[in-house]
Amino acid sequence: MIYLKSALQLDCMRKSGALLYEVLCRLKEAIKPGVSTAALDVYAEQLIRKHKAIPSFLDYQGYPASLCVSVNEEVVHGIPSERVILKEGDVVSVDCGLILDGWHADSAFTVGVGLIDPAKRQLIDVTEECFFKGIRQALNGNHLGDIGHAVQAYAERFGYGVIRDLTGHGIGRNMHEDPSVPNFGTPGRGIRLRPGMTLAIEPMIAMGDYHVSQLEDGWTIVTDDRSICSHYEHTIAVNEKGLPELLTYPGYALTEEPKP
Ligand code: MF3
Ligand code: CO
Repeated sequence: MIYLKSALQLDCMRKSGALLYEVLCRLKEAIKPGVSTAALDVYAEQLIRKHKAIPSFLDYQGYPASLCVSVNEEVVHGIPSERVILKEGDVVSVDCGLILDGWHADSAFTVGVGLIDPAKRQLIDVTEECFFKGIRQALNGNHLGDIGHAVQAYAERFGYGVIRDLTGHGIGRNMHEDPSVPNFGTPGRGIRLRPGMTLAIEPMIAMGDYHVSQLEDGWTIVTDDRSICSHYEHTIAVNEKGLPELLTYPGYALTEEPKP
């Protein structure tokens, strides 16, 4: 069941999205060599609660933290730990979700710790660009497959693997709503996108092969070939006319791409 959001409901999601954006900006600044992933988690929970919001990941299906922090070959759902200390050259993905006045926001970014080599830099940049290729397809009347295809086509140009076992999702009063939003697909296939649909679009891209597995901790997803992975996510809204809105990136306005 897909819930289309009214203008009033979108306003609520804009507020939760804007708060999450602030939280992620603060977290980005806190990432440096020597910091534990548990320290980032504590900081995130403080920031969220200070603004009268609720960390949505905490206790979600038993998940033990407010953040997922996934380092290097970890794709997503890395559990913050005192024992995981970030070091120069690491590729670290931070995924966070919160609930404000009953409305969810979900967003993730990947950064290098200190200086990273150019191949890792490119992976992070291409993953972000994959998101932007995807969101440009989130247009009234387009199909879900148009988003996935755009993400996949761009990633595969670089020889990267597009994770298939995990997808984006609808979002609203629940963190996970229909539809599921794969990062691969066929243009013109899948459900039609409609105004008021709110989606978390979240490419997960590996430097190597796309096959992944879950670790013994029951959460952490790693690439089978242990290649480095990057993740980038925003909560977005499909508009009636024109380009979509990034609810978790206030002030960011997509512009029409110049005609080739
Ligand atoms: N942010 C993840 C997603 O996009 C959910 C995290 S799983 C949790 O689906 F258990 F950590 F909440
Ligand atoms: Co998500």
